[in-house]
Amino acid sequence: MASVTQAPRSDIAVDDITDLAPLEVISLAIERHERLAMSFSGAEDVAMVSMLASLTEPQRNRVTLFSLDTGRLHPETYQFFEKVRDHFGIPVVTLSPDPYLLDDFVRAKGLFSFYKDGHGECCAIRKIDPLRRFLADQDGWITGQRRDQSVTRVHIPQVQEDRAFQGRGDQLMKYNPLAGWSSRQVWQYIRTHAVPYNALHERGFVSIGCEPCTRPVAPHEHERAGRWWWEEATKKECGLHASNMQIGDEQA
Ligand code: ADX
Ligand code: SF4
Repeated sequence: MASVTQAPRSDIAVDDITDLAPLEVISLAIERHERLAMSFSGAEDVAMVSMLASLTEPQRNRVTLFSLDTGRLHPETYQFFEKVRDHFGIPVVTLSPDPYLLDDFVRAKGLFSFYKDGHGECCAIRKIDPLRRFLADQDGWITGQRRDQSVTRVHIPQVQEDRAFQGRGDQLMKYNPLAGWSSRQVWQYIRTHAVPYNALHERGFVSIGCEPCTRPVAPHEHERAGRWWWEEATKKECGLHASNMQIGDEQA
């Protein structure tokens, strides 16, 4: 794929960043941060991985592409991480849960406690704790969340301060390059650029998380209806995007 370099706009104020193209948001993050990571779920957010790959090698080498390997992902998602690595030449760094915390949790509550008492505890150990440790060493991170994904995401900006995960008192900035794009636009990008995608999307999965907590959705259903389907729509955040719940509370 041809490399393109976007004009740096590093002097732009955060409040003025409302209408940039996704690639500009990614380029801006690279301009601004020494320690920058891109979080990848293994779903259609591969579109932003493709955008990253379209940048020059020195630019993309500044970004660590990572995924939270909960140990409960679908085999297709693990296979997809390898495909991404081969296709783009960018390794997906997988972050694992603390084995001691996980052992204690599974011993006490088994492997499927989330069906009985909610996903909070399991997500806290398998996702949030590893993410917190990792982000403590970053000063910026890029996510693929979008406003059209959920009632909890309708207000997300393209750039925001992330107080929930900042470590050691340093400021942590969060970039949401796809915030303003619809699912349709993301899929248009994937098709136009012949971007590889997770085989689960061919089997009715739209939003993809862990295997026991994700199921396919019918055409008339919202994409997140298949995530934690036994819980209310307003609870469908696992804590990665904790600030969304706070924004939602403030607006309520
Ligand atoms: S989730 O919080 O409900 O799981 P969602 O699946 O909508 O999130 O994905 C939104 C964005 O959150 C992804 O584009 C990605 O940036 C980040 N994300 C979600 N799951 C993971 C994961 N397992 N590893 C890394 N990032 C993730
Ligand atoms: Fe556990 Fe389900 Fe959360 Fe994955 S999504 S960490 S399996 S509760």
